[in-house]
Amino acid sequence: MAADEVRCALLGAGTVGTQVARLLGEHRADLAARAGAPLRLVSVLVTDRERPRPHLAAALAGLAGTPAAEGAIVTDRPEDVWRSAPDVVIEVMGGIEPARTLLLAAMAQGAAVVTANKALLAADGATLHAAAAAAGVDLYFEASVAGAIPLLRPLRESLAGDRVRRVMGIVNGTTNYILTRMTQGGLDFATALAAAQRLGYAEADPSADVDGLDAAAKAAILAQLAFHTRVTLADVSVVGITGVTATDIANARDLGLVVKLLAIAERVGGDEEEQDGVIVRVHPTLLPASHPLANVHDAFNAVFIEAEAAGDLMFYGRGAGGAPTASAVLGDIVAVARNRVRGTTGPGESTYADLPVLPIDRARTRYQLALDVLDRPGVLAAVAAVFAAHGVSIEVVRQDALPEPGPAVAEARLIVRTHTARESALAATVAELAGLPTVDRVVSVMRVAGGAEHR
Ligand code: NAP
Ligand code: HSE
Repeated sequence: MAADEVRCALLGAGTVGTQVARLLGEHRADLAARAGAPLRLVSVLVTDRERPRPHLAAALAGLAGTPAAEGAIVTDRPEDVWRSAPDVVIEVMGGIEPARTLLLAAMAQGAAVVTANKALLAADGATLHAAAAAAGVDLYFEASVAGAIPLLRPLRESLAGDRVRRVMGIVNGTTNYILTRMTQGGLDFATALAAAQRLGYAEADPSADVDGLDAAAKAAILAQLAFHTRVTLADVSVVGITGVTATDIANARDLGLVVKLLAIAERVGGDEEEQDGVIVRVHPTLLPASHPLANVHDAFNAVFIEAEAAGDLMFYGRGAGGAPTASAVLGDIVAVARNRVRGTTGPGESTYADLPVLPIDRARTRYQLALDVLDRPGVLAAVAAVFAAHGVSIEVVRQDALPEPGPAVAEARLIVRTHTARESALAATVAELAGLPTVDRVVSVMRVAGGAEHR
């Protein structure tokens, strides 16, 4: 490659891509100094090149006549992109196909890749990493998890000398906004979701966010980097927030807790009793109101990393949005451009630990259950006996009279919080509780984090 410039192609010019184009122009002098050569945008791929794109046009016009975008083409034909001979291909179009095919073609031609595509990385990162290694090119993807927050490079590079035990965080802004509105505004799920859609946080089809799949894809990427083990979306146990009710939020609040959708990737075992492995899960989680993650509001993201030598680290910031995400993309562009100017590459995929990815029933955490029960002598004793029979220790019990006993038999609501227990023991406990004649129904079961199990 001629070191006098680094040629960049942009696949996608939507929310993120338009901001990448803008920043490539506005920051061009700084970027050139930092990369060691000017970065030139040579082509932009979209689905429909005839569609008016005032923001992209403004970004490109701002670059016209400068080395940053002279002669840049906007096209809907991939062959035009290859003809523009990019050194770096920046993929911000999303989806599995044609993104995967385009990135494999780019790497086969010797281009480095920067992508924000968590869905593709979590579904088939192995194919992309193998192609990057075979071609001897960089594959960087900082923007794929938690938008602007520098998180993957710290895991991949800064913590390379440490041992990560757990990564736990809020990595989906849409669901965090919805839960914040339910907690602070007393809204039900549907009303909070509608508010998120009005503000443009949630898509018209919000399922990837509210079903937890977006967070699960990010959890898989984080787990792979933290534990040097290949982890895909299929390895992640996922529960979204569609089942979280205003009652769950109110029950939590009464006990000083807050509901958050957490992604948790942890290393377990390593001793004689437990098999060594990794568990990756996404689910609504109760946190003490004083926990730092409980105080991450609206569409913000935050991630805790717990490492053996470093202790607890926390990363906080904007997890989505055009400009914040473009900031992370630009950081990667500069890194891979600098590597190309120097004729080198950065760290590639690391899966040497190759730990087993264990099912969630091997996880150990605390739980909070809400049970609607009869209010008679011996009911609490019978409930407690079921917990005891499965080796699940109770930490807190609270009983409230149900305001209006309905047609069902229940007269009281029991809230039971447990000490740390194994998921399989809790599942057996819940199944047996549901069959007790004195228990009308198990209203909810939620995992609790941020306490003693994290020390
Ligand atoms: P977007 O606004 O929907 O933009 C997608 C762009 O890609 C559009 O310009 C679209 O072309 C183009 N495109 C899509 N399919 C194409 C195809 N088959 N051929 C050619 N062009 C195609 O998406 P976005 O929000 O910018 O997100 C882009 C990526 O960044 C996704 O992987 C997303 O997960 C990731 N990401 C986004 C955010 C965020 O806050 N938005 C945050 C972190 C990561 P048209 O303009 O012609 O439709
Ligand atoms: N839909 C995602 C969110 C965008 O709400 O966080 C960033 O990946």
